[in-house]
Amino acid sequence: MEFQKVIETRYSVRDYADRPVEDEKITAILEAGKLAPTARNSQPQLIYVIKSESARQKIKQLTPSAFNAPVVFLICGDKNRELISSTSGLSMMPYDVSIVQTHMMLKATDLGLGSCWVCQFKRENAVEIFNLPENAVPFSLLFVGYASNKATPHKWHYDSVNIDDYVTYL
Ligand SMILES: Cc1cc2nc3c(=O)[nH]c(=O)nc-3n(C[C@H](O)[C@H](O)[C@H](O)COP(=O)(O)O)c2cc1C
Repeated sequence: MEFQKVIETRYSVRDYADRPVEDEKITAILEAGKLAPTARNSQPQLIYVIKSESARQKIKQLTPSAFNAPVVFLICGDKNRELISSTSGLSMMPYDVSIVQTHMMLKATDLGLGSCWVCQFKRENAVEIFNLPENAVPFSLLFVGYASNKATPHKWHYDSVNIDDYVTYL
């Protein structure tokens, strides 16, 4: 799909068809994340592919935004590969994992899949429910699957602030 079409087509899908996502598409989404830039190439992402019935059931304990997607990626940062900028003192990990996830989200659209980015959960609950290692910092979930026939964009999708209201040319 042409890039402009990808970004115009994507919206947060919150209702999924009862249809599995092909393994090749899951792999292609993971490969798209791998191509993302990260600060000093630190690549601090840790990704859990939640696909089995038992793991998907656990998502319901984790978040009220538990949509019926056949695949959910739990995107974490790896404390062992976190880069703290020596200039700003800021952790680059939130930037890095967000870019990885954005690549994955847009690749899902490119493959004809719907997706929804979800942050509505407590980090400590994700660690406990999925028995994550000590170095994993959960950031967000990416729900992925074929959109159901009933899926439509929420009104927020169309509610854009004017570019002139937030861009300043200096
Ligand atoms: C960082 C982030 C966190 C989000 N968390 C949630 C969430 O917890 N639950 C949800 O239903 N949607 C969530 N969303 C989706 C946004 O609500 C959605 O992207 C926004 O309203 C614009 O709509 P659109 O994606 O359909 O264009 C999140 C999106 C982002 C980028």
